[in-house]
Amino acid sequence: MANAGNQGRPFWPGARLPPVGREAGGFPSASGGPLPRSPFASHDSPMGRNRNMMQEPRMARDDVIKGTDDDAIISKLSAVNLAYLDDPFVKYFVKRPSRRPPLINRGSYLRTRTLDLITEQFIKNEIKSASSPTIPSTTPIRKQIVSLGCGSDTRYFKLKAKGLSVHKYFEIDFQESSAKKAATIKKNKAFTDVIGDPDLKVGLGGTELYSKDYCLLSGDLREFEDTILPKLKAQGFDTSLPTLFLSECVLIYIEPKDSDAIVDWVGANMTASLFVVYEQINPTDAFGAMMLRNLKARNIELPGIHAYPSLKSQEERFMSRGWTLAQAVDMNALHDTLPETELKRISSLEIFDEVEEWQLLASHYCVAWACHVHGSGSKADGAASASSASATTLIEDGPNHQTLVTLLSESVSGISKFSTPRT
Ligand SMILES: C[S@@+](CC[C@H](N)C(=O)[O-])C[C@H]1O[C@@H](n2cnc3c(N)ncnc32)[C@H](O)[C@@H]1O
Repeated sequence: MANAGNQGRPFWPGARLPPVGREAGGFPSASGGPLPRSPFASHDSPMGRNRNMMQEPRMARDDVIKGTDDDAIISKLSAVNLAYLDDPFVKYFVKRPSRRPPLINRGSYLRTRTLDLITEQFIKNEIKSASSPTIPSTTPIRKQIVSLGCGSDTRYFKLKAKGLSVHKYFEIDFQESSAKKAATIKKNKAFTDVIGDPDLKVGLGGTELYSKDYCLLSGDLREFEDTILPKLKAQGFDTSLPTLFLSECVLIYIEPKDSDAIVDWVGANMTASLFVVYEQINPTDAFGAMMLRNLKARNIELPGIHAYPSLKSQEERFMSRGWTLAQAVDMNALHDTLPETELKRISSLEIFDEVEEWQLLASHYCVAWACHVHGSGSKADGAASASSASATTLIEDGPNHQTLVTLLSESVSGISKFSTPRT
C-alpha cells in the first residue's frame, strides 16, 4: 500500500527547474518520494536467504524501483479524486491519499488516458477485411495483453468493468510487488467480482493469481526468456495471437541489454504484436539533467534513458530491429490531440496556470508505439522462423499480413497524430 509522504514539499522551486522529490520525475512515478525499504527486503524475503555481498547493491536498487509504483498510484488517485480520471479501483491500493499539484494531475491524466485509449482500441478493433473470401467483413479475434512491470495498475479491472476484455490479460512485476497486488485483489470483492472466475487461484505463496482471463505473475523482467516466459506459457500465453505489450514507466529502469532482449524476443516470436512504451526522454538539456540529478539523490537511476534519449531513438529502438512500424511523440503532442470538450472539462477541475512549466515537463516524456507482424520480410522474421513454430499460424490460417498491420496500427488511431504511421 502506498503512503503519501513528501507532503508540504515545495512543488516548483526555481524557475523551470524540476524540484527535488517525486515531482522531479515529472509525470508521476519517475521517482518515489521518501522511498521505504520494501517490507520483503529483509531476511524474511523469499529471496533474502540467498543474498550475498555481490547481490546487495542490485537488490537495494531494485527495492527503490519497486517503490516507484507507490508514487504512480498515489498520483493516479489524486487525479481520480479530482475527477480527471474515472477509476473506482485505484483507491484500494492507497493507504494515505495525497492531493498532487495541478501539473502532476494533468500528467497522470494524460498518461493514463493515452494508454487507456490505445488499449481500448486494441481490444475493440476487429478484422475488417475483404482480402480473404474466408473471412467475414468483421471477424472477432482472440487477443492478449501483457503488462510489463504492472505495479498497482488497474487497467484490466477498469476495462473489463466496462465490458472490454481480451482472451488473456497478463500482468508481471517483481515478486514483492505482485504479492502486495495479489493480496489487495483477493481481499476486495470489487476486484474478484470483475475477474468473475470462481476458480481464481492464488499461487507461489500468494505472489501470483491465475484466472480464466487474468493472470498476475511474479518475476524479474531482466530474466524474461528464462523466468517470465515459462510462467506465461504455463498460463496459456499464445504467440500466435495478436498481443499488446505495455511498458508504462518500466523499461527505462532496466539496462538496455535486458529491455532490448524483451523487444527482440517479442519481434522474433510473436505473430502480431503492438508494443507501447511510456517513459522519459531528453536527459541532456538543463531540465533533463536536473531531473536525473534529483532522481539520483533518491537512488533512482534511469539506465534506459541514455540508450533511448529522443523521439527518434525511441522509434529506432524498434525499427532497427526489423519492426514493421514505429512512432514516438512527446506529451505535448498528445496534449494537443485532446478534444476541445475534454480540454474544457479538465481545465474546469482546478486552476492550472503553469503552462510554460507544463510544456517543459511534457517535452521530457513520450509515448512510443511499434508493431511487428510476421510475413513482412523484415529482419526479425528470419530470427523468428527458427525459434517459433506457431509464429505464422495466424497469417496462414487467417487474416493476411496487411490486415494485421491495420488491425494493430488502428489501435492508435484515436490519437490523431498517430493516424498515419510511417512505413
Ligand atoms: C513506475 S512503476 C509503474 C507501474 C505501472 N506500470 C504504472 O504505470 O502504473 C514501475 C514498475 O515497474 C516494476 N519493475 C521495474 N523493473 C522491473 C523488473 N526488472 N522486473 C519486474 N518489474 C519491474 C516496478 O516494480 C514497478 O512496479
